[in-house]
Amino acid sequence: MTTNTTAPAAAAGTWQLGSFEVNRLGFGAMRLMSTSDGGIRARETSLAVLRRAVELGVNHFDTAAFYFAGPRSANELLNTALAPYDDLVITTKIGPGRDYEGNFYTARPDQLRAQVEENLRELGLDHLDVVNYRIGQSLDRGTGSLAEGFGVLAELREAGLIRELGISNVGPEHLTEALAIAPVVCVQNQYGLTARREDDELVRLCAERRIAFVPFFAVASGTGEDTRVAEVARRHDVTAAQVRLAWTLHQGPNVLAIPGTGDVGHLEQNVAAAALKLTDEDLAALG
Ligand SMILES: NC(=O)c1ccc[n+]([C@@H]2O[C@H](COP(=O)([O-])OP(=O)(O)OC[C@H]3O[C@@H](n4cnc5c(N)ncnc54)[C@H](OP(=O)(O)O)[C@@H]3O)[C@@H](O)[C@H]2O)c1
Repeated sequence: MTTNTTAPAAAAGTWQLGSFEVNRLGFGAMRLMSTSDGGIRARETSLAVLRRAVELGVNHFDTAAFYFAGPRSANELLNTALAPYDDLVITTKIGPGRDYEGNFYTARPDQLRAQVEENLRELGLDHLDVVNYRIGQSLDRGTGSLAEGFGVLAELREAGLIRELGISNVGPEHLTEALAIAPVVCVQNQYGLTARREDDELVRLCAERRIAFVPFFAVASGTGEDTRVAEVARRHDVTAAQVRLAWTLHQGPNVLAIPGTGDVGHLEQNVAAAALKLTDEDLAALG
């Protein structure tokens, strides 16, 4: 796979996600379907966001079969806008699921293969690039062993249905447990400048092991007005969301960003944040 190093999304560099090279600035598909007031986005708007992301050099897309709202499905939108996905890496997550009425459930280990196949059907693929095993039922970090479910995914990887595995909503103990079963290329947890800083240690642990740390809610965890963020944003003439993304990308070369949006203007700002260099003074001010 070749990466266009002059594309805006390449400005923060690349990371080797197992066998895939991706730009560190990626895209999360969870916000594609709905507007912030709960309305359904126009289908053409969501498709335009995805196509613009690729034009800007985004080549890492995060999704899930349970990302749907009314008639819109993130996987279907990705398939329509991006298939055959030349040089793009699609990361999905399983564990949580939603029935046809939209109610969430947590898959038993023996249901995980069906969730993998659901993603294959929706994305129109015969193998998945990266699959995160997401544990826990809420945004509280998952507890208990992930070994049985992760073992099922390791078998599906051996069978060729999945190329690379990650884990999500986890602590360091889960990483140790998973690594004893199969290689782990990424950890996806909630984390940001003002959220879940107890994971600073897990970020470092992942860096030591050359594993990507891929935070979610890097923008959304900090929507409350923060004067430190506002001050740094003023210095660089950028938005608070861009400062939060740049801060994320400054946490180490293994930290990837997957900001989610259904708005082309926000997408362009998020991608531009890949080029935003924070100074030592900025980083100190942000704490
Ligand atoms: N593993 C897990 O458990 C898990 C959980 C949640 C999410 N995820 C993944 O992580 C991705 C990132 O999370 P996210 O999409 O919720 O969070 P995010 O990127 O932190 O924030 C998205 C929110 O911020 C707004 N936003 C985005 N860019 C903005 C900008 N430049 N200026 C102002 N507002 C902006 C979006 O609204 P607009 O649409 O109006 O821009 C949306 O409300 C998701 O898309 C999903 O793929 C994983």
